[in-house]
Amino acid sequence: MSTARGGFSSRMGFILAAAGSAVGLGNIWGFPTQTASNGGAAFVLVYLVLAFCLAYPAFMAELLIGRYGQANAVTSMEKISRSLWQKRFAFVVGFGGIVCVVLILSFYGILAGKMMSYAIEPVTSLLGLNDASSWLISQSVVRNLIFTALFMVLTIAIIRRGVEDGIEKWSKRLMPMLIGLLILLIIYVFTLEGAKEGFAAYLNPDISRVFEPDLLISALGQAFFSLSLGTSVMVIYGSYISKSENLVTLGAQVTLIDVSIAFLAGLLIIPSMYVAQAQGVAIFSDDGSLISGPNLVFDVLPTLFTGMGAIGLFVAFGFFVLMSIAALTSSISMLEGPVSFVVERHNVERKKATTFIGFGIFILSALIILNFDVLFGLVISLSTVYGQPLIAMLCCVFVGWIWQRSGVLEEIKQGNDSAEHSLFWKVWPWYTKFVCPSAIAIVFFHSL
Ligand code: PHE
Repeated sequence: MSTARGGFSSRMGFILAAAGSAVGLGNIWGFPTQTASNGGAAFVLVYLVLAFCLAYPAFMAELLIGRYGQANAVTSMEKISRSLWQKRFAFVVGFGGIVCVVLILSFYGILAGKMMSYAIEPVTSLLGLNDASSWLISQSVVRNLIFTALFMVLTIAIIRRGVEDGIEKWSKRLMPMLIGLLILLIIYVFTLEGAKEGFAAYLNPDISRVFEPDLLISALGQAFFSLSLGTSVMVIYGSYISKSENLVTLGAQVTLIDVSIAFLAGLLIIPSMYVAQAQGVAIFSDDGSLISGPNLVFDVLPTLFTGMGAIGLFVAFGFFVLMSIAALTSSISMLEGPVSFVVERHNVERKKATTFIGFGIFILSALIILNFDVLFGLVISLSTVYGQPLIAMLCCVFVGWIWQRSGVLEEIKQGNDSAEHSLFWKVWPWYTKFVCPSAIAIVFFHSL
């Protein structure tokens, strides 16, 4: 139910909003890319295991903190703390998540802006505006600045409207469009020559690679990024869920949607690459691995679309609109993190806070664009390789070691009377206390 501070009006509203946050460029670009560069199906297998065994428990910890606290990440964690040092710890973790998500949005906005410009290019091509088309897909600082700004304006416009009217309403509109587009594109690609070979490469695991440390690290990082963990976002979304909902099931449903869409995106991207190969496009780099990273999305796929002739314009349009929608439902969740903090802690009016913070993040993006070679990779590493796992681990430590067991149970029981006797309650508490923090720490230190 909605409260004075806002909230999701329905279960579906929460599921679509949280899935909207989770499903983003990480799923549609990151996951297939990582799969391509980490041995195909072996990566998919490890990812599935880690998503359910490590990311889901950590995701539950964040949702529970938020629903208990009914406030932004910092305040929610402080409410659980009993002593002064616990409150300080709460502040560091909660605020750390907010800083992390601000950094993520600053680079994510640049990529999302690029997706938007690539989505408009087929339209200008169709209209015969050739100069505009080449500018839209050129490596231009001005183009990046303009489209990052446009994307931020869209994000700000939605967040200014609040939880129910902004986040929930737009997630309900955009998520079905995203799933529909994804399925249509998969069906189309499957009719093309070469797709079946790609399908086989995607689903045929090289089991010998499953225990490779690099593969494990990439899969864990990908799972955490995908579920938006360690960023305060799921804490704040948790705080907008009604106390009458069963959080354990809701969390599992969102995880399942997130993982399924990543899997589907793989079904689109990897076969597309093999279709491109059938048309003479190089899809393997010099070392024999599949091309991944920016080259895949901004070179290989556009070359494929161009090779399709007139219909390629529509496919390219559909693909980059899909990417832009995925990015937007994630970016709104990112902006909500710092906005909820400033609104609730500093009594600033929501619209003002949103515009101000959104503009500030755009300035950060502009700095990155202007110093791209130095800052882009650095900000990504700082926030996603170090920040997210660290904060997510501290959230597990917080729930496992600081929050009293009886308090946690009481929160889980809201909307789930029989929780005490469930398998979840038998496994999850010790799992979050011991297994999650140690597993995350091992992988984290190994990656250093
Ligand atoms: N989960 C989003 C994606 O996969 C990214 C994201 C990270 C969203 C952190 C919110 C917070 O693209």
